[in-house]
Amino acid sequence: MALILALESSCDDSAAALVDSNRQILAQAVVSQNDAHRPFGGVVPEIAARAHIEILPGLVRQVLHEADIAIGEVDAIAATAGPGLIGGVMVGLLAGKGLALSAAKPLIAVNHLEGHALSPRLVDKQLAFPYLLLLASGGHCQLLEVRGVGEYRRLATTIDDAAGEAFDKAAKLLGLGYPGGPAVEALAKDGDPAAVSLPRPLVGSKEPHFSFAGLKAAVQRVVATGDHRPEDIAASFQQAVVDCFVDRTRRALEVSNAPALVVAGGVAANSSVREALRKLAEEEGRRFSVPPGWLCTDNAAMIGWAGAERLAAGLTDGLDVPARARWPL
Ligand code: KG4
Ligand code: ZN
Repeated sequence: MALILALESSCDDSAAALVDSNRQILAQAVVSQNDAHRPFGGVVPEIAARAHIEILPGLVRQVLHEADIAIGEVDAIAATAGPGLIGGVMVGLLAGKGLALSAAKPLIAVNHLEGHALSPRLVDKQLAFPYLLLLASGGHCQLLEVRGVGEYRRLATTIDDAAGEAFDKAAKLLGLGYPGGPAVEALAKDGDPAAVSLPRPLVGSKEPHFSFAGLKAAVQRVVATGDHRPEDIAASFQQAVVDCFVDRTRRALEVSNAPALVVAGGVAANSSVREALRKLAEEEGRRFSVPPGWLCTDNAAMIGWAGAERLAAGLTDGLDVPARARWPL
């Protein structure tokens, strides 16, 4: 059994967690910086980096205290090393390096996308490799065949915006503020998903890629006309994203015979998305797995779990490992 202390700081959530290789989350804490970024309508990288400096040390103390664990009892330190906003990534990774050096523990530099990709296995013991993963977050929208720790085959990606980015933009256009995804979902509950005609970019195309820029622009035009209720626009937008996800994932399932379908990343917290993909998996005869909402959005438990999986595979990193703004899986 290995115990991992994990740090996450790639965007606007500061997080720390203590996770073990038996899937126990001994303690975890996430501090969202929403209030700091809200006046600017989106994440300001410099503000995020400074906030991580202020927040992370307290979170590390908090999780160790809550679990009643001394740093010396930890087996390894895992920290997100990218991709993300480089200032924030550097803060978390340097903090991880400092802890690893001072406590003489191995360091595991975790790819944030690998954190999302392996997160379902933290709560779903039966989920074995390989599985087809729809990874939909604020920065990414990809279909990956997850074959093992560190073994990913990318089947598709977005040719323009990420799905979460589209949710955030739609929210901004509807005057819902930041962060947008949960606000759009809440408003959509009172709307008619068939009320507004919106495009489904790339639906029906051979390669299972995604595109959301055209959808975003269409929402902008619809909002400008003032002809529709915001509730109906939100519901119709959400339905368009769901339809794209289902069509593109169905296409990927035609080329992947992975026995399970998994959805992860912040957008997977959306209940319409979860239900539509659950139904697709059922239709296609695949097992379905989706982490609970709190594990879909950014957190350090998933970084700790990826750390545990990497440590078990003998994959640790030197203290010279770089922080990376871009780091494809
Ligand atoms: O994975 P995540 O927390 O951070 C990144 O790695 O990007 O994903 C954040 C994204 C944001 O764009 C946010 O608006 C979206 O996930 N999101 C949602 C929901 N909750 C978060 N989108 C739709 N519905 C939600 N309930
Ligand atoms: Zn993320």
